[in-house]
Amino acid sequence: MRLKERRSLLVGAATGIGRDTARAFAAEGAQLVIADRNDEAGRNLVQQLQASGAPCEFVHVDVTDETEVRAMVDTTLEVLGGALDTLCNFAGLQYSGVVEDFATERWDSIFTTNVRSQFLVTKYAVPALRLGTNPAIVNMASIAGLRGGPGMTAYSASKGAVIAFARALANELAPTIRVNSVSPGWIDTPFNKAAIDFMQGPERLEDFVQHNVPLQRQGTPNEIAPLFVYLSSVESSYVTGQTIVIDGGLL
Ligand SMILES: NC(=O)c1ccc[n+]([C@@H]2O[C@H](COP(=O)([O-])OP(=O)(O)OC[C@H]3O[C@@H](n4cnc5c(N)ncnc54)[C@H](O)[C@@H]3O)[C@@H](O)[C@H]2O)c1
Repeated sequence: MRLKERRSLLVGAATGIGRDTARAFAAEGAQLVIADRNDEAGRNLVQQLQASGAPCEFVHVDVTDETEVRAMVDTTLEVLGGALDTLCNFAGLQYSGVVEDFATERWDSIFTTNVRSQFLVTKYAVPALRLGTNPAIVNMASIAGLRGGPGMTAYSASKGAVIAFARALANELAPTIRVNSVSPGWIDTPFNKAAIDFMQGPERLEDFVQHNVPLQRQGTPNEIAPLFVYLSSVESSYVTGQTIVIDGGLL
């Protein structure tokens, strides 16, 4: 019960890595709000967690909309009783393509979903985190923010910004609130479809993984979740301003 009664908001956690993190948070005793724009998946997840006895609610949000983000934080605080101990941001968007053909609107959407959203959620959640116990923010980055690849310029630039945002925020909010980011490598979720199409199919990705990832496979969402648990818990009370790489050795 490493997150026993920690009041936690997980944004973009209806599917994929966020969903497995929500399951891990519930198993560790957290009081949870799961927010996402995918209402069906979010509500299904919450029903499953509630059935296992976890205190858990779903709140709808489109993180690209400032009014919705503000309302999500207000509703979360009503559910959790006015303070937050942990905030995790997972929402992400990826398009692939070479830079000279890349639609400017796609560049903007990637930055709006991946970077601006973390700013907005943070902006409205920080007052409640200041009232929390050993408060921590954990933001989803990617090794794409540390090492670029063909067709990934917009996504890589956005994740580089996520890492820099968390680092600056860690300094700004210290010593009260710890801020870290997590940088996974290739994790097996449908999120990577655009990148796999750009690589011309899953066989190419498999070949890349075999030759470039020392552990010779993609990771799974439940291999990332424990890092979010650690960075959200008091066990990491002396860790701030980091991005933690979890990539099977790729970097
Ligand atoms: N899968 C990987 O290989 C990998 C590697 C490194 C980092 N990441 C990052 O992990 C995060 C989660 O990715 P995933 O692989 O679990 O994919 P996913 O598509 O399952 O998860 C993304 C979640 O964000 C939500 N979301 C997207 N846009 C939203 C919006 N505008 N408002 C509210 N919610 C929104 C989706 O509904 C979904 O629940 C992303 O930030 C991604 O960049 C993934």
